[in-house]
Amino acid sequence: MYIHRKYNNIYIETFGCQMNILDTNIIINLLKKSNYHFVNIPNKANIILYNTCSVRELCEQKVLSRIGYLNKQQKAGADIKIGILGCMAESIKAKMLKNNKSVDFIIGPNQLFNILNVLNNINNVVKNNIVQIFIDNNYKFKTNKLIYAKRYTNLNHFDSLNRYTNYKYRAFVRITRGCNKFCSFCIVPYVRGLEVHRNPKSIIKEIEYLVDKGIKEIVLLGQTINHYVYKSYNKITTLADLLFQIHEQIPTLCRLRFLTSHPVNFDVSIFDVMLSCNRISRYLHIPAQSGSNKILSLMNRGYTIESYYDFINIAKNKISDISIYGDIIVGFPTENEHDFQKTKDLLNNVQYRNIFVFKYSPRPHTVAFNKMTDDVNLIIKKNRNNEILTLQKQISLQYNKTLINKVLLVLVEEEIKHNILNMHEKSVKLKGRSYDDYVIIFYGEKKIIGTIVSIKIISITSLCLYGKLI
Ligand code: 5AD
Ligand code: SF4
Repeated sequence: MYIHRKYNNIYIETFGCQMNILDTNIIINLLKKSNYHFVNIPNKANIILYNTCSVRELCEQKVLSRIGYLNKQQKAGADIKIGILGCMAESIKAKMLKNNKSVDFIIGPNQLFNILNVLNNINNVVKNNIVQIFIDNNYKFKTNKLIYAKRYTNLNHFDSLNRYTNYKYRAFVRITRGCNKFCSFCIVPYVRGLEVHRNPKSIIKEIEYLVDKGIKEIVLLGQTINHYVYKSYNKITTLADLLFQIHEQIPTLCRLRFLTSHPVNFDVSIFDVMLSCNRISRYLHIPAQSGSNKILSLMNRGYTIESYYDFINIAKNKISDISIYGDIIVGFPTENEHDFQKTKDLLNNVQYRNIFVFKYSPRPHTVAFNKMTDDVNLIIKKNRNNEILTLQKQISLQYNKTLINKVLLVLVEEEIKHNILNMHEKSVKLKGRSYDDYVIIFYGEKKIIGTIVSIKIISITSLCLYGKLI
């Protein structure tokens, strides 16, 4: 059915984490169903949506510069509507509406289910150029708990609408929203609100649907996913229960992973489930952020480095081939050489499969922003960032060497383009992933794309593995 709307062609750009990628997927699905059209270059669009991230200032700056560019185009006569979605809509909403007159609407991460209304409205009230604001005041939750709970209940509907994915064989499924941890550096609890947990039945139904559509790997998402707990009448479902239920009830699902875990209150029975369910990846993303107890305490992380090490030892003793991923922040206020050395010790002790490293960026609303001085200068932050990356590269390289001649099960994702030197006749260069998300390159026939195959590793770099089909 064709509906005539003045503003109908949408370009959407996503910034930030998997949560945002998932939200974008849901938005695309929701709007396509109502005959909005998506285009892949901004010039063809008359609605531009930025699904934004506020975790670091750099992410926000990118969006602000995009808006600045669009402003110029508007002044030159372009008839476009601009919508800011996600975390930035919450974090700097007042500023955004005041300073950026060309921003037509902003929708916070917990209000995205309003998007269709907003766009339809824009199409109806175009003459008056009315600014639509649909945001919730997350940070007022302390005085407003009930209203909040009600709002979140509605969100199950939005969360279960994932019917589109930009990875062919992998889909994200949200099981918790928000975070109760309030790490002193982190804006997430202020923009995404407190933890809420989805009904396991709705999660399983969604995964069944996705697997039926050809999805092979499901990645469950939550900011502090190990805190997942769903209470209904007398029944309590924990993350361990949920993983087991998904594994048992959906035998056609090939792989199941979850992220991100918090080191506090990690129920070790999750390891037993991993051991007994062979399609659950032995994968754990459990950021420590720093190796220094002084910094961990200032970060309000709620654990000491000794207790983190104890936990990692338990994990490794239970599951010898568990792949541990982490996040590190360098240059947090007062971090000195001694603290930084402790973080390098952390990498050497844990031997992460890989890490994500970030330079500390002061974020509005947070305790670190309000009460601490950003006193590590940028050059030192950059140097520490590079040092951590170099160290991790050595660790990953060392580990990858041990994989040579080993056989790994690989989910084949796609053909690698730009392959002019194809020595094999029928074979093409393919890219796949191991259970622990490592990239593996090898030759094979196109028809194996979307299946799981055995690959013998023959050579390596720190970031990827090369192998051959066996
Ligand atoms: N500055 C730098 N890194 C941050 N992160 C979160 N907040 C900040 C900040 N203010 C990092 C943490 C977190 C990851 C998602 O982003 O390492 O685990
Ligand atoms: Fe942010 Fe800490 Fe919550 Fe992670 S656990 S989302 S770092 S507040």
